Amino acid sequence: MPSLREAWDRQGPTWTAWARIPGHDSFTQFHGERFFSLLPPPGGLTVDLGAGVGRVARALRPRGYDVVEVEGSEFLARANAELTTGSVIRADAARLPLRAGIADLAIAFMSMHDVDEMPAAIAEAARILVPGGRFAMALVHPLNSAGRFEQAASGEPERDRRFVIDGSYVDERRYADDVVRDGLPMRFESMHRPLESYSRALEDAGFAVEALHEVCEPSPDDKWSRIPLFLDLRAVRR
Ligand SMILES: C[S@@+](CC[C@H](N)C(=O)[O-])C[C@H]1O[C@@H](n2cnc3c(N)ncnc32)[C@H](O)[C@@H]1O
Repeated sequence: MPSLREAWDRQGPTWTAWARIPGHDSFTQFHGERFFSLLPPPGGLTVDLGAGVGRVARALRPRGYDVVEVEGSEFLARANAELTTGSVIRADAARLPLRAGIADLAIAFMSMHDVDEMPAAIAEAARILVPGGRFAMALVHPLNSAGRFEQAASGEPERDRRFVIDGSYVDERRYADDVVRDGLPMRFESMHRPLESYSRALEDAGFAVEALHEVCEPSPDDKWSRIPLFLDLRAVRR
């Protein structure tokens, strides 16, 4: 099976189109601002891990953040470099070509569940941060990736559809989600990992979690208003 990085490289052209349509996924609808509310004010250098085509950095630079972007896919790093005025490095988040203590903020918006060597990438985030630096990441919530909503029973409101976990929450496994939005089909290839996998990686890298938000869909009629879509957290490097 190809690595997640190779899978994302294959999806590069589609993701480039997908990520550039404003308002068509949760980043511009509500999740971007929720994530930004976790960030400390701009200080020194910010490193964005798994930057894709740079929409996070493009939102942060006007707010005063000096962002270097790291992207693992050759295709996406090149597409990003064509759009940005900042620096984009093509590298694996698990092996950063950056010196220790170069940054005071590392971010990973919706990328760590797509990284093959997640614990190594989190250790690298710790290495490039100064002591007291912050690491903020947004993930597909492990509850979300563990299960699925059943079809609605007849007459049942959409919001009340049963959410079931058929297999194991605890075991890590690769999965793919096929989503069509505005006629654009996109395949998201990711790893389901239980929350403890991330928590242990953070602990082993010397991080202490200082904020953890479970992000639901804001519309109360949506089924995702009662099961969290995303998990956002901020950790401090001790
Ligand atoms: C869901 S996309 C998110 C992109 C971006 N953060 C955004 O929100 O627009 C996940 C990104 O992680 C990148 N990625 C996956 N594995 C990686 C790795 N090992 N090192 C660096 N980037 C990686 C993918 O190529 C992809 O751009």
